[in-house]
Amino acid sequence: MDKAKRKAVIAGNWKMNKTPKEATALLNAITPLVKDADCEVIACVPYVDLAAAIEATAGTNVKIGAENCHWAESGAFTGEISTGMLKEIGVEYVVLGHSERRQYFGETDETVNKRTKAALAAGLKPIVCVGELLWERECDITEEVIARQIKLDLWDVSEEELKNVVIAYEPVWAIGTGKTATADQAEEVCAFIRAQLAKLYNQAAADAVTIQYGGSMNDGNADELLSKTDVDGGLIGGASLVAEKFAAIVAAASK
Ligand code: 13P
Repeated sequence: MDKAKRKAVIAGNWKMNKTPKEATALLNAITPLVKDADCEVIACVPYVDLAAAIEATAGTNVKIGAENCHWAESGAFTGEISTGMLKEIGVEYVVLGHSERRQYFGETDETVNKRTKAALAAGLKPIVCVGELLWERECDITEEVIARQIKLDLWDVSEEELKNVVIAYEPVWAIGTGKTATADQAEEVCAFIRAQLAKLYNQAAADAVTIQYGGSMNDGNADELLSKTDVDGGLIGGASLVAEKFAAIVAAASK
């Protein structure tokens, strides 16, 4: 399948930014700018902003995502949020396995896999993040790291379920550092991810998966990154907090 047939997906990952009131204001600024987008547009926002974000985007083409979810349906998991809670208020996407959760909150491939399966079972669309550390790239084990993450994070995810999965390739050294992977580096790993998916599933299933690049993507470099064959979208941190910058990336993906 050629790139044109895959769905381009531009998602903002707001991380721990914006109060509910600020979320409403930012989304009110974003929605008119992206209304003609020819790609999927998503804002992944902090839990407490979700209700305001869903209200602010009602009737628009902007979808709302959460930044994590737990795998259990309910129970004694203080501080956690279930897939059912997200579904009930109208959340469609959920970021899982972000490197900040892996680095600071003890997220492992095993827990990413549990969350991914729970999200899919609940009808949420997971954006599963993978990526190597700078040290791993320097030691030339990027492919080993990515292959392991893809295999473990998607363990026991069926071919049918894979249709609802978005993969985000986020080299950890490029996140929030202003140091973007070159378009060729992004393409190399995104193509490798697709090859791994073809091994684990089959070529047709792999060809249908949307693979995003994330890591200092902005309005200045989006065009080039998104021009690459296996880069189908972006997961945007900093630039997603500025309406005009985010809209410019959406416009680049809509070409
Ligand atoms: P930045 O765009 O701020 O580098 O963040 C990328 C990211 O982590 C998105 O999930």
